[in-house]
Amino acid sequence: MQSIFLVPLIFSLFWISGKAAVKRRPDGRIVNGREAREGEFPYQLSLRRLTVHICGASVLDGSWAITAAHCVDGHERQPHEFTLRLGSVKRSSGGSIMTVRTIYKHPSYDTTDMNFDVALLRTQAGALTLDPNVAPIKLPEAGEAIQENISAIVSGWGHMSSTEPMLSSVLKYTTVMTVNQQKCQNDLSFHGGVSEAMFCAAARNTDACQGDSGGPLTVQGRLIGIVSWGVGCADPYYPGVYTRLSHPSIRRWVRLLTKL
Ligand code: ARG
Repeated sequence: MQSIFLVPLIFSLFWISGKAAVKRRPDGRIVNGREAREGEFPYQLSLRRLTVHICGASVLDGSWAITAAHCVDGHERQPHEFTLRLGSVKRSSGGSIMTVRTIYKHPSYDTTDMNFDVALLRTQAGALTLDPNVAPIKLPEAGEAIQENISAIVSGWGHMSSTEPMLSSVLKYTTVMTVNQQKCQNDLSFHGGVSEAMFCAAARNTDACQGDSGGPLTVQGRLIGIVSWGVGCADPYYPGVYTRLSHPSIRRWVRLLTKL
């Protein structure tokens, strides 16, 4: 008897708290993120195609940036269409703009299931460190495990929710927790599951979203993941999926090309 009343009550509570979370932060892009201060994420780049922001990327050194393969897929023969904005928390102003010279997609990248969703972008030598607010991010070791349930930071100019497709004008960031690989596999089993070259991270009411792809997920100043895909954004049932940079095939490929 009691549960007949409890069920709708609980559902409406969830509904109300969901609305409130959205209302409280009308500007919370990433989903419910916080605004970054200038210079706070010196490795964060905005990847632009034909001057329009399409994805995030990260600085590896003076001439190399890393992003998701799906961000450049189909256009890798036109690297000159791509530019990087560096050293600015503003998506459309500040810092400087560099052109991409060469695009390298991971050789095993698979468009259908997003496996090995990583690409390297080469610019003119030294181009990525010409700005005072720009600094490289360190990479993990090949084969290094990702501890489960540790907090990681993701940043980007992506959408504030899956229903409000609007990019943020200022860089946002949020904290998510790494998810046990088997749980991640189970959670996403109806969506193809996850490979060894992917891992999940999630937190309540916050997530990366469209436009954050290719951007960094870091733990203690090291780039462990790249924003890759998800089912909606900040959906309590679906964690965000990231490319696993410590996967031996990814890490060795990065080293081969960049010597890093
Ligand atoms: N594929 C998206 C992009 O191109 C990123 C999606 C991330 N989604 C998530 N729920 N974490 O920007």
